[in-house]
Amino acid sequence: MITLNDISSLRETINQWRQQGFKIAFVPTMGNLHAGHIALITEAHKHADKVVASIFVNPMQFGQNEDIANYPRTLQADQQQLEAAKTDLLFTPTPEIVYPKGLDKQTFIEVPQVSEGYCGESRPGHFRGVATVVCKLFNLVQPDIACFGLKDYQQVQVIQTMVEDLSMPIDIIPVATVREASGLALSSRNGYLTEEELKIAPALSQNIQWLAEKIKQDTDFIGLAKQAANFINNAGLKTDYIHICHAKTLQPASEDDKNLVILAAAHCGKARLIDNLQVNL
Ligand code: PAF
Repeated sequence: MITLNDISSLRETINQWRQQGFKIAFVPTMGNLHAGHIALITEAHKHADKVVASIFVNPMQFGQNEDIANYPRTLQADQQQLEAAKTDLLFTPTPEIVYPKGLDKQTFIEVPQVSEGYCGESRPGHFRGVATVVCKLFNLVQPDIACFGLKDYQQVQVIQTMVEDLSMPIDIIPVATVREASGLALSSRNGYLTEEELKIAPALSQNIQWLAEKIKQDTDFIGLAKQAANFINNAGLKTDYIHICHAKTLQPASEDDKNLVILAAAHCGKARLIDNLQVNL
């Protein structure tokens, strides 16, 4: 695996691969890799000849009171995992390389509607930061396909919408969430959980499952979601939101909608956990 942190050598390598007719897959990450990320690399290999990963803790997607300073940075361990997963190239730029003019002078991408509500409401500016950095990384890597984990369901919809709206010639491949045996979705932020918190954190996915079963029999979506929020709070977490939505538009689901997704976020100690489940009625 080659590790590069400057744009010109990245472009040079990619150009060579293109000239050789290779198909390129891309997996953008913020590092602190776990089995969920490696599942993205494995999926990427199925669709392309060369797999490029990036590690960049993107300041534009963190709010002022969020965890950018403490966000775990584990480059060496990440490199070992990527190498073992047969990644061809790792791009590790600094903020100065990605945003040479500084964040406040940077052109940005704003994806309407699907960025609003849920994590978009709890984390103002977050999806603008995600869409902008992913657009920039897409322009640098120029992949044919890119893989994103479905744990960040709203993020996948934001990126899919950006790609459609801006006619980017890239196939977005959503990849299933990888979970602990307890049901807890793997996340770099699980590292913030204490031993005690690790025991209660699975209440988020368990209550999403409970809600998924209930909405198969009852259309009182709002009442059922409130009950699920209470159960999550009673387990010792603090629900940020839990909603039943249309799987593509993310608008609140109506009784007639058949393709749904339950989106949820909850605080557990220092960690803000998110999870979701698609439900087809
Ligand atoms: O999901 C993530 O890790 C990040 O939001 C992404 C897509 C790498 C953009 O910084």
